[in-house]
Amino acid sequence: MAKRRRLIVANWKMYGRLTSGLVLVRDIVEKAEAARPLNFDVVLCPPATLTWAASESVMGTPVMLGAQDCHTATHGAYTGDISAAMFTDLGCRYIILGHSERRGAHGESNELIAQKVEAAQLAGLTVILCVGETAAELESGASATDIVQKQLRASLPKNVKTAHLVVAYEPVWAIGTGQQPSPEDIASVNKAIRQTFGEAGETVRVLYGGSVNPSNAGAIAARDEVDGFLVGSASLNADGFWAIAEKCG
Ligand code: PGA
Repeated sequence: MAKRRRLIVANWKMYGRLTSGLVLVRDIVEKAEAARPLNFDVVLCPPATLTWAASESVMGTPVMLGAQDCHTATHGAYTGDISAAMFTDLGCRYIILGHSERRGAHGESNELIAQKVEAAQLAGLTVILCVGETAAELESGASATDIVQKQLRASLPKNVKTAHLVVAYEPVWAIGTGQQPSPEDIASVNKAIRQTFGEAGETVRVLYGGSVNPSNAGAIAARDEVDGFLVGSASLNADGFWAIAEKCG
């Protein structure tokens, strides 16, 4: 089996003003530089307002940048939106798509997400596609694996490039709640996600996200099926984020 390089992604959501955000970028960069050579990848996804300034801070370091969302079009009369190519211009290599906060608060459908995945890959970005079951879906009796596989298939464009795809398993009930599935359950859903792609799945990195912190990351990272983490609130503190990152090494 091909060894997949692990990946840790910081999802800062709508946190980080100009000064505080850039201090956080620099603190994380400093830790990454001190730990060189890294045997895992590090991606920071700040709010779009910080991307340009952050790209200067990460240049020439092991830290890469990502976006949190994009429009499906390359350009056009779409007030307030940002295209994937615009993020590529700013030095982004990755983009989070299909996060449950966008599926929920912005009503993003699987179909729309599939279009965004296609647009982002065309712009040269590697997509971190989020999937995960809600508590209500679980209560209705379906298995997390079935829910997630169905959502995943529906969120992928026909011509998806698996070489530029990462999937993040993020149970919606685990995001920002302090709750989590057991490491065993995470491993079995991650495995099912990988199997969705057949042979191509061997190289697709499948992350876990949802209330990851320095105390629980080790037991989850001990599972071969977990190729890294997508971290929300714990990524807003450089020491905490790096303590999780080190579990990926
Ligand atoms: P959390 O968020 O780590 O704060 O639970 C994860 C995410 O939403 O990606």
